[in-house]
Amino acid sequence: MEPLEFSDGTVFTERRRLYTASAAPGTRTYGERLMAIGGTEYREWDPRRSKLAAYLANSGKVLPIRKDSNVLYLGASSGTTPSHVSDIASGGKVYCVEFAPRMFRELVVNCKPRPNMMPILADATKPSEYEFMVSGVDVVYQDVAQKNQADILADNMEKFGARYGMVAVKARSEDVSENPKTIFKKAESRLKERGFRILDTLSLEPYEDSHEMIVVERT
Ligand SMILES: C[S@@+](CC[C@H](N)C(=O)[O-])C[C@H]1O[C@@H](n2cnc3c(N)ncnc32)[C@H](O)[C@@H]1O
Repeated sequence: MEPLEFSDGTVFTERRRLYTASAAPGTRTYGERLMAIGGTEYREWDPRRSKLAAYLANSGKVLPIRKDSNVLYLGASSGTTPSHVSDIASGGKVYCVEFAPRMFRELVVNCKPRPNMMPILADATKPSEYEFMVSGVDVVYQDVAQKNQADILADNMEKFGARYGMVAVKARSEDVSENPKTIFKKAESRLKERGFRILDTLSLEPYEDSHEMIVVERT
């Protein structure tokens, strides 16, 4: 098991597969493979199930989430990727925002064995509604599959004073008829207009159709 370059020793690779060291040994979130090596339990991280893993599998080089980061995760669903973020930021907190009640119920179950994962039933377009539950955010990670993805990220980064942001832009959620490349350029321009520097952009194909990861830093 080798630490992945640029991951500050939080993500590992073996035979080109990705792993995180489990912060909740003995538990699975989505049926992932567990491997025990030298007293550490590693969880396989599937790029077909997680856009953050797809970004890293495609040689994404900017991972601003560190061991002690506090992460605001928008669009947590049942907790698949958030659980790996909770392994990475094992010394920080992961605030998981999800607005669909059915997914939220599963998220609550998956947060139970992970003391650093906080489920929040709320709409990511209304950060003032969960402001009272969230503090000290270093990174906003967003995967919400809806319109105005750049502005939702920017609004949350501004509200919580986060330095870094990552957004997995889904082109079809913005406009089904427009060329995905045009949509990604518009999202990048909007983030620049809102005062962010683009640190990286990367297509998530072949793992996710018409998706691009954008990583930004507040200037
Ligand atoms: C593609 S799924 C997220 C998958 C998850 N990020 C993962 O990798 O495990 C998108 C989720 O965003 C949620 N969502 C969409 N718009 C939202 C909003 N405005 N506020 C909160 N959640 C939202 C959906 O209910 C859905 O569960």
